[in-house]
Amino acid sequence: MNQLKITETALRDGHQSLIATRLKTEEIVPILETMDQVGYHSLEVWGGATFDACIRFLDEDPWERLRKIRSKVKNTKLQMLLRGQNLLGYRNYADDTVDRFIELSIKNGIDIIRVFDALNDVRNIEASMKAIKKYKGHCQCAISYTTSEVHTTDYYLKLVKTMENMGADSICIKDMAGVLTPYNAYDLVKKIKEITTLPIQLHTHCTSGIADMIYMKAVEAGVDIIDTAISPFSGGTSQPPTESLAVTFSEMERNPNLDMEKLLKISEYFKPIRDRYMKENILNPKVLLTEPQALKYQVPGGMLSNLLSQLKQQNAEDKYEEVLKEVPRVRKDLGYPPLVTPMSQMVGTQALFNVLSGERYKLVPKEIKDYVRGQYGKAPAPISEDIREKIIGNEEVITIRPADLLKPEFESMKKEIGDLAKCDEDVLAYALFPQVAPKFLESKYGKKCDKVEDEISYITVTM
Ligand code: CO
Repeated sequence: MNQLKITETALRDGHQSLIATRLKTEEIVPILETMDQVGYHSLEVWGGATFDACIRFLDEDPWERLRKIRSKVKNTKLQMLLRGQNLLGYRNYADDTVDRFIELSIKNGIDIIRVFDALNDVRNIEASMKAIKKYKGHCQCAISYTTSEVHTTDYYLKLVKTMENMGADSICIKDMAGVLTPYNAYDLVKKIKEITTLPIQLHTHCTSGIADMIYMKAVEAGVDIIDTAISPFSGGTSQPPTESLAVTFSEMERNPNLDMEKLLKISEYFKPIRDRYMKENILNPKVLLTEPQALKYQVPGGMLSNLLSQLKQQNAEDKYEEVLKEVPRVRKDLGYPPLVTPMSQMVGTQALFNVLSGERYKLVPKEIKDYVRGQYGKAPAPISEDIREKIIGNEEVITIRPADLLKPEFESMKKEIGDLAKCDEDVLAYALFPQVAPKFLESKYGKKCDKVEDEISYITVTM
């Protein structure tokens, strides 16, 4: 039997899930050399919301963070999460931007890129995959796991085969919402292992209290790699604790062989940092609690807290339960999109609008209209004519790969940002976050810096 491998997520998903991605580079660097000696398969350190948080909230250069991490981590692979054609932003980027972004991510230190599409429309990961292969990165294709009448085991098996044929180096079952269950995990992993020899990695969240059991059953079914977070950044809406699982699985023949002394050193290092974020109310103790609503409504933990805070702003907290009930209905209307960024925010906002306006689809955000127009890709299940008409009337629906509508854009972005960008990494920060990046670049190069404004206010990232 091959050894079980472990990916440490504290430096990406762990702090993204618990403290809104606020860990600073200076808090990360001192412990990296120890982390490098644990025996992890990889460290997830970049991508997801880290880039956005760096330039929007921390006034830090995300590329510089990556280079610093790489300079301290010499033995362990560095991993990032990429939203396919959306890269780390919230719209589709043209293929030339995708290519350049991936080239520079790999050049600056990334080894493994986990790429996914919110709708599992593989056309949206095609360009990223091509670039990852071209620049010799490890291309891990992730299935956005969800449950619905169309998301059957057969559906996932077909998807895995497609990804394999497209050139995936490994497959991740990405249970971003924590809706996978232990026996389903066992069944799915077992069946995927029967049809492919690619390594299978499993990613889940503790939100609904069953993540450890999911990992145990998945390991029994032969999963190759699991995602865990060092204890101070584990549990709740994050991943299960690395130390606990390292001990658990050290008692079996596939012992991941992690260095327990080093793990304890890492958790001792992060404890006071975690405690400070808790004192500053950035870590809300609520996100650490088991949330049975997540199982009932099949929505990610992060989405629950987003909805609650949006309702608070509207003085409509009493509508919480009603909005939660509306979420699965909206999801059904829209062809069962998996609730992952950006779909989770979009479906959540639509459910909120439906309840607060008192009439379903009376108010529809632009993003939902674009989705129904096919601009995010193909919905997992067809959207009924009735719903489509309500949302976009007789407007045309596109069926081509959405990025085929986009002309090359990188050079014009470069021109647009001009002297403010000193390298292509800067240009990419601008291409991804045009509202925020100019202020960030001004500050980076010591020019004037005003307060940054919010780009898309209802979007806060969960995955
Ligand atoms: Co996650």
